[in-house]
Amino acid sequence: MENKIKDIKAWQILDSKGNPALRVEIETYEGIKGFASVPSVTSKGRFEAFELRDNDKSVYGGLGVLKAVNNVKETIKNALKDKCVLNGYEIDNLLVELDNTENKSKLGANAILGVSMAAACCASKCLNIPLYEYIGGINAVILPVPMINIINGGAHANNNLDFQEFMITPVGAESFYDAIRMSSEIFHTLEKNLKKENMSTSVGLEGGFTPDLKTNKDAIELILNAINDSGYTTDEVKICLDIASSELYKDGKYNFRGENLILDKKEAAEYFEHLVEDYPVISIEDGMAQDDYDGWRILTDKLKDKCLLVGDDLFVTNSKLLKEGIENNIANAILIKPNQIGTVSETIETVRIAKNAGYKNIISHRSAETEDTFIADFAVGINSGLIKTGSMSRSERTAKYNRLLIIEDELKKSGKYMGLNSYFKNAKICCNKCNRYG
Ligand code: PGA
Ligand code: ZN
Repeated sequence: MENKIKDIKAWQILDSKGNPALRVEIETYEGIKGFASVPSVTSKGRFEAFELRDNDKSVYGGLGVLKAVNNVKETIKNALKDKCVLNGYEIDNLLVELDNTENKSKLGANAILGVSMAAACCASKCLNIPLYEYIGGINAVILPVPMINIINGGAHANNNLDFQEFMITPVGAESFYDAIRMSSEIFHTLEKNLKKENMSTSVGLEGGFTPDLKTNKDAIELILNAINDSGYTTDEVKICLDIASSELYKDGKYNFRGENLILDKKEAAEYFEHLVEDYPVISIEDGMAQDDYDGWRILTDKLKDKCLLVGDDLFVTNSKLLKEGIENNIANAILIKPNQIGTVSETIETVRIAKNAGYKNIISHRSAETEDTFIADFAVGINSGLIKTGSMSRSERTAKYNRLLIIEDELKKSGKYMGLNSYFKNAKICCNKCNRYG
């Protein structure tokens, strides 16, 4: 019965927003256990896999996940009992077949992903190797460059900023350890600067500050000052943005309330072009809305050689949508969120397709997280090179960074932090202002 699944348990726990989330435990006959908890979302892409909620409004406002818990404990457990936990692909295929819907709406993507991740975790323990090594073998050596979300806006904060995430990325750090130290210093300088200006230092869903500012550019300026006041240059620390444009798109126009601008797709692309020219912005996520393919095409034509253009809502980690984007030359990078698609092996397949097409992949948390650190190991396991997992505050965010600090120490000399090369192949910045590379 070696490495065979004896039992699968599931619980309803809480996520970082205080709403129900799912936790799964898989145990083999030898008593080896793997765990996983599944995150949730605030600004959901239209084509994400289906998250099963109880919809009983009298309990947790309808957000309970007890149906998903039962699906794990009954249907899924019955199907996987006595299967070898080391066969990750076979387990994931079985889960997909068992559900047998396009978007995992029968068993719930939360139930399926919890089992898929817990199986990977259990398998690594059976083999007595770290999870990142189980996923990537001895090839798993790249420490991801973090995108650290230090100002929150949009649907993630109760302020008037349109953009959802303003991130720093320490491309000039020499190691992941160094990257975290620099980012923490800048985060605390920003806090001091906000206090000096009598602005709020409360934090949003992903742990970034949520000051009320007139414009998105004001937020970027505040960050640039914090980088400078911490003793760093914009050669060492650059800026990434998640616009989450689907939230700003109404009747074919983009509404930037702060700037008092209502822009069509061409004007919106020009607006981003100016941002990239004026500031050290090297990545823009969801610059255009998920339904605005024409807008994406205009934006990609304009900026694909200057900046990462990351599809989150656009691709929802879905290999079919990604292939369509690649065929149409849309975007040049993809955000990877395992719960958008629902199994570990489908997530790996999407990453493989992205890499083959020369698209960068960024492993990402969700706005409603748990203390689970699967994505930290996953980022190293697939040599993604980039991770986005929140700010330098809130334990559900720092848990992932803390796990990566330990992985870097375990890897010792074989671990590699690629800096700007994680963003651009053979990166060479020709000048600090224009951000061109190559
Ligand atoms: P979400 O936010 O988890 O609410 O989707 C994260 C993101 O948009 O990248
Ligand atoms: Zn996003």
